[in-house]
Amino acid sequence: MMNFNIAMIPGDGIGPEVVEQTVLVLEKVGEIYNHKFNFKEALAGGCAIDEYGEPLPKKTIDICKESDAVLLGAIGGPKWDNLPGDRRPERALLGLRKALGLYANIRPAILFDQLKEACPLKPEIIGDGLDICIVRELTGGIYFGEKGRKDTELGQAAFDVEIYSEEEVRRIAKTAFDIARKRNKIVTNVDKANVLESSRLWRSVVEEVATDYPDVTLNHMYVDNASMQLVRNPKQFDVVVTTNMFGDILSDEASMITGSIGMLPSASLGEGNIGMYEPVHGSAPDIAGLDKANPMATILSAAMMLRYSFGLEKEADAIEKAVKKVLDDGYRTMDIINEGKKAVGTKEMGRLIIEALS
Ligand code: NAD
Ligand code: IPM
Ligand code: MN
Repeated sequence: MMNFNIAMIPGDGIGPEVVEQTVLVLEKVGEIYNHKFNFKEALAGGCAIDEYGEPLPKKTIDICKESDAVLLGAIGGPKWDNLPGDRRPERALLGLRKALGLYANIRPAILFDQLKEACPLKPEIIGDGLDICIVRELTGGIYFGEKGRKDTELGQAAFDVEIYSEEEVRRIAKTAFDIARKRNKIVTNVDKANVLESSRLWRSVVEEVATDYPDVTLNHMYVDNASMQLVRNPKQFDVVVTTNMFGDILSDEASMITGSIGMLPSASLGEGNIGMYEPVHGSAPDIAGLDKANPMATILSAAMMLRYSFGLEKEADAIEKAVKKVLDDGYRTMDIINEGKKAVGTKEMGRLIIEALS
């Protein structure tokens, strides 16, 4: 029997609801394949502010560092929206990513055949399916550059600096090219090099890295065009590599073409051995506590954990197959519902996936 230690951070809003179902799924996988997943719960975000007065207690970072992988739900909510920037729940997420050195955020946007009707694009645009992998830089750029306020003649001004070093770009570019090598061998670099100096450096480093990957085709696209192309002709994309903020925005856009933001998982990897796995969506305060959230993004994130952190390929496949089976059987949470399908809540969706596993 293999033992794996997972730091579990449910967070706020729908976070605890989707994590609860994911833990049950993982426990079932453990039972079937004879692995032991040990969960250690930690607080981060709004719930940590309420309990400890700070969004990311040191204890939480320690629990993550002592684990093999981190499973996170979502963080934030209206209750904490008026706190100063450095004390907001979202700081916990940024702090965790930084503390664990998780510079590479992998966000696969895959449209399952079963969800073609939930995709707002016309059938002729999506063809026989979509499979885009967004590789988002996660520990640099405008999220982590200098920020502040100052008085000016026009009143108070505020600034956030977008800054990237060559090494930060090099390592994320390598990640993207390595992934592309195992896929359709096309990397689209998305930047704003027609305006931003940081993008010009970014682009030149991506080009330099590309010389080590002659088998991979590199295209460049400005971010404004990329956001348009994602809707006009998403099939042209294989791997997209981009900055922290552009990746944040484009991945929400890409999620919708897979049917719903409730479908998009993510893996954050980096310097160390500890990966963090979380859905791309947020805490969805509008549906929190109502058993309406789609748990699939988090459950699929757990599949990524099994694959990338634990090397459990067939177990990861089993989760993905179970998700597809439940969709095949016509069950849908409200974010992906269509005529003729069966509406279920978060808990029932979790139960169905577990049933499909066994
Ligand atoms: P959101 O992703 O929480 O919600 C956007 C919309 O998508 C809402 O209508 C919501 O109901 C829906 N939605 C999201 N996840 C869903 C799911 N699993 N199933 C069904 N519907 C789902 O984005 P927001 O409203 O901009 O942000 C809400 C809070 O979440 C904010 O405090 C924000 O900072 C935070 N946030 C956290 C994360 C994270 O923890 N990784 C990510 C994004 C936003
Ligand atoms: C995400 C979220 C976070 C981000 C926020 C909540 C800090 O939107 O994970 O996509 O911008 O990275
Ligand atoms: Mn986001």
